[in-house]
Amino acid sequence: MRVGMLTGGGDCPGLNAVIRAAVRKGIFHYKDEFVGFLEGWRGVLEDKTEDLDLARIAGILPRGGTILRTSRTNPAKNPGGLERCVENLKKHQVEALIAIGGDDTMGIAQKLHHAGVKVVGVPKTIDNDLSGTDFCFGFDTAVNIATEAIDRVHTTAEAHNRVMVVEVMGRDSGWIAIYSGIAGGADVILVPERPFDIEEVAAIIKRRHASGRYFSIVVAAEGAKFSTDVDKEHGAPIVQDMGKDEFGHVRLGGIGGILAREIEKRTGIETRFVVLGHIQRGGSPTAFDRVLATRYGIGAIDRVHSGEFGMMVALRGTKIVSVPLSEALVATRPVDPELLDVALGLRDRREMKNNS
Ligand code: F6P
Repeated sequence: MRVGMLTGGGDCPGLNAVIRAAVRKGIFHYKDEFVGFLEGWRGVLEDKTEDLDLARIAGILPRGGTILRTSRTNPAKNPGGLERCVENLKKHQVEALIAIGGDDTMGIAQKLHHAGVKVVGVPKTIDNDLSGTDFCFGFDTAVNIATEAIDRVHTTAEAHNRVMVVEVMGRDSGWIAIYSGIAGGADVILVPERPFDIEEVAAIIKRRHASGRYFSIVVAAEGAKFSTDVDKEHGAPIVQDMGKDEFGHVRLGGIGGILAREIEKRTGIETRFVVLGHIQRGGSPTAFDRVLATRYGIGAIDRVHSGEFGMMVALRGTKIVSVPLSEALVATRPVDPELLDVALGLRDRREMKNNS
């Protein structure tokens, strides 16, 4: 069979491991041929391809990024874009397409599936907020990078009696913040799912310092929101740039600096911040992500051959399963409230209770 493959959206450690696994199993077990579409949907739209053979995928398992490169191109934004994609896939005699990406990539995969293209999706985002799967590869690597950063920030915070704010990625959900915050022993963890009251954050830090501790660590997802008197439940994320990408996303970022300023103002404690940014997306995947990505790659090519199109491979518990692409698109998957309770359970509330 002639199989097309592409990686779309933000890059993520483990993309190469998916490509390698699918190509190896496809060639060794099914005698497939592979064509890679370069730079996400842009490659399908603009007919940019590269043959994927065993030589091309040799040695890529531990490499970050993606040998196919990626983009946030949205063919549906171009007049006649989806039709052009269908034509280009036909031109390359693609019988099935494996699309590796997040909700935006899956959205286009589903549109093309409705237009008759045989597609299998593979879930990817370091944010880990794609519906339909328990885990996306790349997330574990990002959490490990963030945890190491928090550990490092800890020692300098301690040395200087400071509050340190660590801003991590997480546009709509705080998976990286909650995992790395718990793993790194953060004192305050802020996630987009629960808008926070800055007065409460300052009070937690003041209480901690009054009880004899002389430093604090705050971990904030980039999409965390200040609650306002007008709207306590929703708030608004801090935006760096109002310009939108082709899928309508604005660029978030900047909450770390604002938090540091507001915390220092309210507590009088010297406060610094670090923004981890794309460091969380770069470099070699962890062993967990390499294994998960490899299982997804194998799962995807197996589904191509069992004819499960319009589906996405997913991890449910410990098993690789397939779910309809539509399941990935329903909504972003919020952090499990149980994890938020874990973080709250670690907080010293004794004084609070006595006072209330
Ligand atoms: O969607 C994953 C993500 O890493 C978000 O957490 C972040 O807001 C965004 O990508 C950044 O994307 P870009 O690479 O376009 O700056």
